[in-house]
Amino acid sequence: MSDNPIGISLLGCGVVGSGVVRILEEQRELLERRTGLRFDLRHVVVRDTIKHAATHPNLPYTTDANAAIDDPKVGIVIETVGGTTAAAGYIERALRLGKPVVTANKSLLAARGAELFGLAREHGACIAFEASCGGGIPIIDALTRGLVANRVDAMIGILNGTCNVILTRMTRNGWTFAEALAEAQKLGFAEADPSLDVSGRDTAQKLALLAGLAFNVRVAESDIHVEGIENLQPVDIAFADDLGYVIKLLAIADRDGGGRLGLRVHPTLVHKDDVLAEVSGGFNAISLYGNALGHTLFYGRGAGQMPTASAVVADLVSVAMGTTPLMFKRLRIFPDVSPPATTIPMGETRARYYLRLTCRDEPGVMGQVSQVLGQHGISLSAILQRETDDGQFVPVVITTHQASEGPMRASIEAIDRLPTVVPPSMCLRIIDQPKEFATA
Ligand code: HSE
Repeated sequence: MSDNPIGISLLGCGVVGSGVVRILEEQRELLERRTGLRFDLRHVVVRDTIKHAATHPNLPYTTDANAAIDDPKVGIVIETVGGTTAAAGYIERALRLGKPVVTANKSLLAARGAELFGLAREHGACIAFEASCGGGIPIIDALTRGLVANRVDAMIGILNGTCNVILTRMTRNGWTFAEALAEAQKLGFAEADPSLDVSGRDTAQKLALLAGLAFNVRVAESDIHVEGIENLQPVDIAFADDLGYVIKLLAIADRDGGGRLGLRVHPTLVHKDDVLAEVSGGFNAISLYGNALGHTLFYGRGAGQMPTASAVVADLVSVAMGTTPLMFKRLRIFPDVSPPATTIPMGETRARYYLRLTCRDEPGVMGQVSQVLGQHGISLSAILQRETDDGQFVPVVITTHQASEGPMRASIEAIDRLPTVVPPSMCLRIIDQPKEFATA
């Protein structure tokens, strides 16, 4: 056992921070027995000490973040404040003092990772960020250690618990997006302002971090094509079901023959046979295709207090044991030392497509639509139409064989200009794993 406890400052004691406190208290003996480490929580930085003391009186609360970081007896700083303003200043301050930082802050790392990792390197510190992606799933540990012998060819993930809860409710209950979002908020999954989640941006920030580690390049959030789930209609979920698919918000990173990366986040029709189709509620999953290992799946709770706190404490132990500092020093996969990603323009990416059109229910309409698609070199694989009571307009779903995004978009623009079609048409991509991404 270590005689000297390791001093910690915890910056922020909200949902995740209080989960960290709980693990450090409840698992103190287990952690000490397993690792020989003892942690001394010296400061818990909050905005309102009186409010926090009312619920948890025995913690060393303070409002003075700078003093908590500067305390010479503090060896590791945990940042669970979130956001990109105050948190950035705290992290910079700790790193300049050579203190390792544990953080769950994917927004900040996606925006300023290269700079902050560079600062850490300059001052002999490190940043541990397992909790930033996939909640409690040890995906960063896998990418930096377990999979290091693999060339990764593709990574496909469900990385946002809120969106997955919403899509699961829409699928199982036939609810609208608004109804499912309200339920997710009631259950405490979605934030009061859910826009970062439902717009796909939270997923894109996580993809930027994970793809950087998987493909050893520097990925900016702006490299990623992002579409959210706000415009999905119950009718799309129902048609997808008829076709044998479920709709998931996927983060996809794949490599072409020339080493360019395709990076995209969008609602996607996932075949019901695919394991990702089974990932429901607040769970996350990441499918990885490595050239040696083949397909592997990482699955677990992607958000929430205790799963995220589990990853924070794992990082704390790894930093204290010297594993993370050594990996950070030796591995050349972090954003400050990786070259920028060369990306595949979205117009060049290929997929099968699902198109839902609202057409006038009259002769010749399908002929006009298929003519437009044919003119753009797009081949149809199925057409689905349901009778409606409307009598005037009818939803028609078309699926295509593999096509390029550029001609597909041009087709939709032309289709939406047809006098027999009511714009806007809905266009979603389909993936049929595993053969599309299978590693030979
Ligand atoms: N809001 C995120 C989610 C968790 O719903 O998955 C934090 O990244």
